[in-house]
Amino acid sequence: MFYHIITYGCQMNVHESEKLAGMLENLGYVSTPKKEDADVILFNTCCIRDTAERRAYGNIAALKKLKKNKPDLIIGVCGCMPQQDSSKTYLETKMPHVDIVFGTHNLHKFSEMLQNCLKDKKRIIETWGDSVLQPANTPMTRTSGVNAWVNITYGCNNYCTYCIVPYVRGREISRPMNEIIEEVKQLLKSEQYSEITLLGQNVNSYGNDLKDGTTFAKLLENIAILDGEFRLKFMTSHPKDIKDEVIDTIAKYKKISRLIHLPVQSGSNAILKAMNRRYTREYYLERVNYIRQQMPDAGLSSDIIVGFPGETEQDFLDTLSLVKEVGYSNLYMFMYSPRKNTPAASMPNQIDELVKKERVKKLIELQRGLMRENAKQSIGKKYRALFEEFKDGVLSAVTDCGKLVFINNASKELVGKFGEVLITSAKSGRLIGELV
Ligand code: 5AD
Ligand code: SF4
Repeated sequence: MFYHIITYGCQMNVHESEKLAGMLENLGYVSTPKKEDADVILFNTCCIRDTAERRAYGNIAALKKLKKNKPDLIIGVCGCMPQQDSSKTYLETKMPHVDIVFGTHNLHKFSEMLQNCLKDKKRIIETWGDSVLQPANTPMTRTSGVNAWVNITYGCNNYCTYCIVPYVRGREISRPMNEIIEEVKQLLKSEQYSEITLLGQNVNSYGNDLKDGTTFAKLLENIAILDGEFRLKFMTSHPKDIKDEVIDTIAKYKKISRLIHLPVQSGSNAILKAMNRRYTREYYLERVNYIRQQMPDAGLSSDIIVGFPGETEQDFLDTLSLVKEVGYSNLYMFMYSPRKNTPAASMPNQIDELVKKERVKKLIELQRGLMRENAKQSIGKKYRALFEEFKDGVLSAVTDCGKLVFINNASKELVGKFGEVLITSAKSGRLIGELV
């Protein structure tokens, strides 16, 4: 018996697919890269932008023929999309070839749902309302190489006006600190993982709901002091909540990655306000300065949305100037996509798609130039790095500050180990290095 999982969206979904795989393997299923061979096909979906939704619907619809030729095939759709009533109804009524529909809050019930579906030969369409802590004993088949994902919070309380996440993932809820530390200890003990990435929509507010003084800084510290050589990463950080204490803790421990993902979304105060981000451009730049003061070698990455309702040419120029001023090592750039029932979707002055396209193109060009410049400046420098992957004869490494470096003529035995790399050249922003 074989399974095949198609995952869309963020790291949270990637990790949840590892849980689905774990549950399937506990039932005796084996992973296959070919859909045609599978007895169970799952779509773990995302609805953050229209493109993600459309792609998923297209690919789910395309399985109609396969199901017709193989009636025993079980097709499941889960993740963020079915958490919206409209999508759930659409799947229920317009996609009769889908057998199981479930959401993010009842993911840990998938084994039961699958067994019931097989036993009763009945469709199962079930999603739950609000955030739930996934049980610590949910099985997992980890698939991310030397990196292991670890959930620290589920859900989000921030309600940025463009964002669907709080509606589909529910209220923020933190896992107990001892449970997280136990999971990390087990991962380190297995000696299979050199990198631990803590996951939450806003890691900086970890612990707020526990009301016992637990903070993200304490969690970071308690993990960073564990024995063994490993790298500790985390995402995502909301700038409004990144306190000095968190930055000081990162600076204090070498094990914590110096690449900080700090999504700014826009460089214009008027747009930040309309987005309900609850910080200003000046406050954001002050946080960046504090990070750089404490860790001159830190790398920063960010998300930006262009074409938010009401974004003027000047607002967009403010974003460009902020991007130049910060100098991000990585930037994820998106065109605003209206999401049903979010406040921004019904704001006046929606921006024309062509304008959005032009703006995102300009932003991409700017960032490319900055990255090329940045790459050139790295030539001749030495960095500590984790060797992460060996593919087509090339070893890839990620430095403590988040630079991706490719190394030719190196051994694949190094994967999972730390070492020094020297940057020898850069081609279109791609760094080439050698072992020191
Ligand atoms: N349109 C475009 N981008 C969005 N993001 C979230 N919601 C939307 C939307 N409606 C982006 C934000 C966020 C990232 C994960 O996705 O930049 O940080
Ligand atoms: Fe969405 Fe804002 Fe929550 Fe991030 S912090 S998930 S952008 S609502």
